[in-house]
Amino acid sequence: MFNFTATPPLSLYIHIPWCVRKCPYCDFNSHEARDEIPEAAYIEALIADLEQDLPAIWGRSIETVFLGGGTPSLFSPEGIDRLLCDIRARITLKPDAEVTLEANPGTADHARFQGFREAGINRLSIGIQSFQPDLLQEIGRIHNGNEAIAAVEAARQAGFDNFNLDLMFGLPGQTAQQALLDLQTATELGPTHISWYELTIEPNTWFHRHPPQRPDDNTLWEMQQAGRTLLGAAGFERYEVSAYAREQQQCRHNINYWQFGDYLGIGAGAHAKITDAATQTICRTSRIKHPRGYLDNAHTAKRISTTTTLATGDVILEFAMNALRLDQGFSPSTFNATTGLSYTVIENIVNQGIADGLLELDRDMIRTSPRGQRYLDELLQQWMPKTTQHA
Ligand SMILES: C[S@@+](CC[C@H](N)C(=O)[O-])C[C@H]1O[C@@H](n2cnc3c(N)ncnc32)[C@H](O)[C@@H]1O
Ligand code: SF4
Repeated sequence: MFNFTATPPLSLYIHIPWCVRKCPYCDFNSHEARDEIPEAAYIEALIADLEQDLPAIWGRSIETVFLGGGTPSLFSPEGIDRLLCDIRARITLKPDAEVTLEANPGTADHARFQGFREAGINRLSIGIQSFQPDLLQEIGRIHNGNEAIAAVEAARQAGFDNFNLDLMFGLPGQTAQQALLDLQTATELGPTHISWYELTIEPNTWFHRHPPQRPDDNTLWEMQQAGRTLLGAAGFERYEVSAYAREQQQCRHNINYWQFGDYLGIGAGAHAKITDAATQTICRTSRIKHPRGYLDNAHTAKRISTTTTLATGDVILEFAMNALRLDQGFSPSTFNATTGLSYTVIENIVNQGIADGLLELDRDMIRTSPRGQRYLDELLQQWMPKTTQHA
């Protein structure tokens, strides 16, 4: 069924699973660092982990690296330097590779940022969430608004001219005016990219057990429209549900996910997706989630990851879940190149989406319509595996 003539671009994700404190809304694989972080042991485990995957990507080079978490800025610059050197000794990073590190304003200062830069990090993603002290306290952040601004300034002084700021909206008791003020402040700090996420209440979080009062759906929708206009006027164009960038400054690492590219994922709980043109398969692997179990087993013969070969229906759904988030959508040829499947396999689903007003066609690009963006779950329902559609 699959017919790959080449493999898609390849990225590397590295998961650092510790934070100073667990935020009440967060369901990422992040753990409060009660004792000292076993940084050196974890770096060794990451390298052992990478080595296990080398045969699967032999001869391919890496376009982007993303150190995410958790809070990677808790690691020392020396640790990050060693990690990147050890990685470079084993796989080829493209000369222009984008190398991003996630930072929490409560864990970084000028010297640390400078060290990260010298280690080869060329893009930062700073978790601001809001600049307003009462809201920051409400969502359990370890920093206040002034510290968030100081962190951004420290990053700039350390020479980072390519950085993202993460903000959230729909926070407990937040007004539209407050959300817009946060965006305004963020744009004035000179980022190249802003990720503007709507707060979601995830299972297994403190907020799920103690739900906060959030703005109602209509207010959220209005907030989103006004925010998008503000960001557009400040030169940030939306290219994905929550991602806004200045011209040519989109996050290449995330774009590779959304275009259904390949990625290695190392670290506790990390996922990977690798296409093998020789066997005509796409495999997904996931690592042991808990840092303790990961550390204990990374060097042993015991497997730290499980691998699944994706069936056609899963590939189609996963492609849609990613590509339909991008404002530009996808072309039939991208579908064919990244899934190895003929476009005819999804033609009926696309036509149904267009008939329902959930998709639209612009020349050869198929993309989510404004109605589809509002009812994304309904749209994705149409892409769920059904034997008759995905045979
Ligand atoms: C892994 S965290 C980033 C870095 C760092 N850990 C921090 O929080 O400062 C990724 C981002 O996801 C967003 N996020 C996390 N949980 C969320 C939720 N429940 N709803 C919306 N956005 C969320 C936040 O904006 C956060 O900065
Ligand atoms: S600091 Fe970031 S990763 Fe850690 S708990 Fe908070 S939002 Fe999650």
